[in-house]
Amino acid sequence: MRLEVDITGKTFRSAAGETHEVLAPVKFALQSGEVGVLIGPSGCGKSTMLRIILGLDRDFRGTVARPPEARIGMVFQEPRLLPWRSVEQNVRLAAPDITDAKLAELFRILELDAHRSHFPGELSLGLARRVALARAFAVEPDLLVLDEPLASLDDALAGRLRDEIATLVARRPVMTLLVTHSLDDAIRLADRLFLLSPRPARIVREVPIAIPRAERSEAELGRIKADLAAPPLESK
Ligand SMILES: Nc1ncnc2c1ncn2[C@@H]1O[C@H](COP(=O)(O)OP(=O)(O)O)[C@@H](O)[C@H]1O
Ligand SMILES: [Mg+2]
Repeated sequence: MRLEVDITGKTFRSAAGETHEVLAPVKFALQSGEVGVLIGPSGCGKSTMLRIILGLDRDFRGTVARPPEARIGMVFQEPRLLPWRSVEQNVRLAAPDITDAKLAELFRILELDAHRSHFPGELSLGLARRVALARAFAVEPDLLVLDEPLASLDDALAGRLRDEIATLVARRPVMTLLVTHSLDDAIRLADRLFLLSPRPARIVREVPIAIPRAERSEAELGRIKADLAAPPLESK
């Protein structure tokens, strides 16, 4: 299973008729079992790119080849839970066939056990994000798309949630595309990093990280970071 993205451009038109170029040519591919991380500054076009990749926005130039029968799990920047449904109901509605054992495992990994019967309005942002993640993983996706799942959480909470995401993607081979503006999150989670320019976004560098996620020591992470800070040998 493979995702092939070849966007040649994306323009937004304002009400006044002005056009804004949001995406420059962006081309990359992702394999089954790989975690690709798109990292770029706020406003560069990351969410726009994800919407195109998911097929939610068809007004762009270029092509996106998604595996035809891929089950897709998506976590949007805002958790988008149904407010009048409990945590458990939110997840079960997305995945009606999920077994009690699978649901229990998801809730255990995401530390949601105590919150099954709570309603979204009773949850902190960190918990609401966890529910959105549980919902995305509950469908056993082939392609998982995560839009800034750790943004606006304090460091300790973001760190825990990052580890939980790593645990979940290690359970079965899922093709994952994660967007972030945090280099720390990116180097801890990615198999492949795509560094984006400011708007209009284009990939300025593609960096494979060969060391398995679980084996990345602080020293290794420091080295990866130093590599990224150094200018590329060949600039494109
Ligand atoms: N529906 C829209 N209409 C017009 N401009 C938009 C729309 N959605 C996003 N934009 C603009 O496109 C740019 C990229 O937005 P977005 O993809 O949300 O960035 P990011 O997710 O990287 O922060 C921003 O300048 C934003 O204002
Ligand atoms: Mg965004």
